Amino acid sequence: MDKIKPYDQPMRLQVNLVSGDFSPFTDFYEHRLSQLAVLYHDQAAVHRMLAEGDPLLFDGRTSLFVTSLSDFTYVVTRIYPGQVGDEYFMTKGHFHLLLEMPEIYFCLRGQGCLLLESAEGDFHSQWLSPGTVSHIPPGYAHRAVNVGGELLIFSAVQHLKAGHDYGKIAQRGFSKLVVQRDGKPQLVNNPRQ
Ligand code: PA5
Ligand code: NI
Repeated sequence: MDKIKPYDQPMRLQVNLVSGDFSPFTDFYEHRLSQLAVLYHDQAAVHRMLAEGDPLLFDGRTSLFVTSLSDFTYVVTRIYPGQVGDEYFMTKGHFHLLLEMPEIYFCLRGQGCLLLESAEGDFHSQWLSPGTVSHIPPGYAHRAVNVGGELLIFSAVQHLKAGHDYGKIAQRGFSKLVVQRDGKPQLVNNPRQ
């Protein structure tokens, strides 16, 4: 935060609602299956897929709206359609480092499911479709899952200082998994908990 130059001017971005692309962006990242393998419950499916290649599961573009008085960030995440075994492609999932910091997601394209869970185990899920606004309250871990046959694209707004804490979710996951059953998404108990 200290190294980021404040930009005390109005700014404008135009997001392409089909591709999720926008410019200029300050950061771009990609996550492939090899980096996310531990998240999925069906490790045999992970190994079968990795033997064939290393598919891209999701990517993100960030724009910093940092001023001398404020620290918003704007991120557009794109999750590709697909599954590892019966479990849909999804983000890593995280708590915020500053637990008291909230976040707002806005779905731009596709069909998804947002998982929310507090450290005490209070679990919620929300179906996402274009136009859905989701408030992630303080103290809730969150993960987006693409349950459709096309890209799931959503934007996120939060304070930069909120940060990301991936450790707890990487270890224990959420209390529910989102899997395909009879061609439809269904939430089932996480066998690893
Ligand atoms: O800040 C957020 O919550 C999002 O921008 C996420 O970081 C993004 O969707 C990717 O999810 P994750 O960081 O859990 O892999
Ligand atoms: Ni977040």
